[in-house]
Amino acid sequence: MNVIANSYSIYSTLDHLRREGKKIGVVPTMGALHEGHLSLVRRAKSECDVAVATIFVNPSQFGPNEDFQRYPRTLEADLAMLHAAGCDFVFTPAVETIYPEGYSTYIEPPEVANRLEGAFRPGHFRGVATIVLKLFMLIPAQVAYFGRKDYQQVVVISTMVRDLAVPIRIEACETIRETDGLAMSSRNRYLSASDRKRALGLSRALQRAQKMVDAGCTNVSELESAMREVLVSAPVDSIDYAIVVDTETLQSIESIKHAAVALIAVHVGKTRLIDNQTLVRRA
Ligand code: PAF
Repeated sequence: MNVIANSYSIYSTLDHLRREGKKIGVVPTMGALHEGHLSLVRRAKSECDVAVATIFVNPSQFGPNEDFQRYPRTLEADLAMLHAAGCDFVFTPAVETIYPEGYSTYIEPPEVANRLEGAFRPGHFRGVATIVLKLFMLIPAQVAYFGRKDYQQVVVISTMVRDLAVPIRIEACETIRETDGLAMSSRNRYLSASDRKRALGLSRALQRAQKMVDAGCTNVSELESAMREVLVSAPVDSIDYAIVVDTETLQSIESIKHAAVALIAVHVGKTRLIDNQTLVRRA
């Protein structure tokens, strides 16, 4: 496994491989890796000739009162895990490599970025879209793998790629969960033992919604009330949103026709957690 921090080196090495006809898959990450990331790397490796991971804690996607400073940085452990997962290249740029002095170009993300996470974390998707597009410029991959746990992020990136005709395919991959249902996240390591128990409210609320849909409920306000009830009794400390919306536009809907997505963002202790579940009406 090659670890490269220099943007010219990563581009020229991978461009060379691509010209030789190799298929390249990239997994962008901010490090603090867990099984969710590793499953993306394994998938990249199984579908491509070359699997590349990037590790970069991107300052431009954190708000002034968010956790950029305390975001876990575990490079050595990350590299060992990537090596074991069969990763071929890891790009680990410094902040000055991505945002050199005088840097001032940012992507205006698509409309869908203004809702939900975008409303609670102003500027977040501007930072995400900017770094992801820059990584796509530096890493000439044909496919990029993202976890569905960040559902809106996948919609924003897919829309950007479509709108700007970026020549890369976006693969959205299943959320990986702990055995008790907690969606894997780098931020789970902030949770104390009691916070971790309360955090199970997210997956339980989503399961409750799917059960209600299975039992024939299609009414969105009933589903949202039921999710809130589970979250309140967890108890989580505050709810940013717990809603059921259209799977593509993330706009409000009144009832579920075929499918919809339930999205949750809450605070548990000092940690903000998100999770989601596609709700499918089984005929
Ligand atoms: O999902 C993440 O870890 C980040 O938002 C990403 C896509 C690596 C961009 O910094």
